[in-house]
Amino acid sequence: MSPHAHPNLTVLDHPLIRHKVAILRDRATPTKDFKQLVNEIAMLMTYEVTRDLATEQVDVETPLEKTTGERVAGKKLTLVPILRAGLGMVEGITHLIPSARVGHVGLFRDHDTLQPVSYYFKVPSAEADRDWLVVDPMLATGGSAVAAVASLKAAGAERIRFLCIVAAPEGVEAMAGAHPDVPVFAAALDRQLNDRGYILPGLGDAGDRIFGTR
Ligand code: PRP
Ligand code: URA
Repeated sequence: MSPHAHPNLTVLDHPLIRHKVAILRDRATPTKDFKQLVNEIAMLMTYEVTRDLATEQVDVETPLEKTTGERVAGKKLTLVPILRAGLGMVEGITHLIPSARVGHVGLFRDHDTLQPVSYYFKVPSAEADRDWLVVDPMLATGGSAVAAVASLKAAGAERIRFLCIVAAPEGVEAMAGAHPDVPVFAAALDRQLNDRGYILPGLGDAGDRIFGTR
């Protein structure tokens, strides 16, 4: 995991993740491959992001004898993609956690003000022993992530982690300021934002590249 100056950020830079992120960045990567890579990276990241989930002991009967095993404790983990680009990560994550509940937070970034505009919110009940994983491929100004996490907290969510593929320093700092209790995980920490709020070097508009809308 690479060193950097952000205490709230973990960069998950396994060689397979770095390999796949480089292909994602390539402007020549077609939609079909882009979508598959986003899911694969999300799945690889989930393995690390969930490393400290609480477990409890269970009795198991093998074909040979009784033994004990472990299972993840608490309410079903809830995955919350920020629409629309976050949807591109759901399939990969639910391959690993098939019982995850899925909530949806609809936000888009106003092109002129860069402020998030909310248009949808539907999540499972917030109970104390539920872990939440908020996902969006891009953390740019941080406006969308900060607003999504604030809406989950307002609904009662407590144990929240934020997972993105590419993060800008500006977004990581915005999350640290607004939600210091929420750890941020990224596959790559990029250099900066441009004057239109796009991440440099980045990978362009994630939603458009996942859904082929440009
Ligand atoms: C993108 C991205 C994030 C947001 C990041 O979504 O998927 O949600 O921008 O920018 P921020 O950190 O400055 O808020 P967009 O608004 O383009 O919507 P889309 O997912 O529907 O394409
Ligand atoms: N949203 C994107 O999809 N890409 C960026 O670079 C910034 C915000």
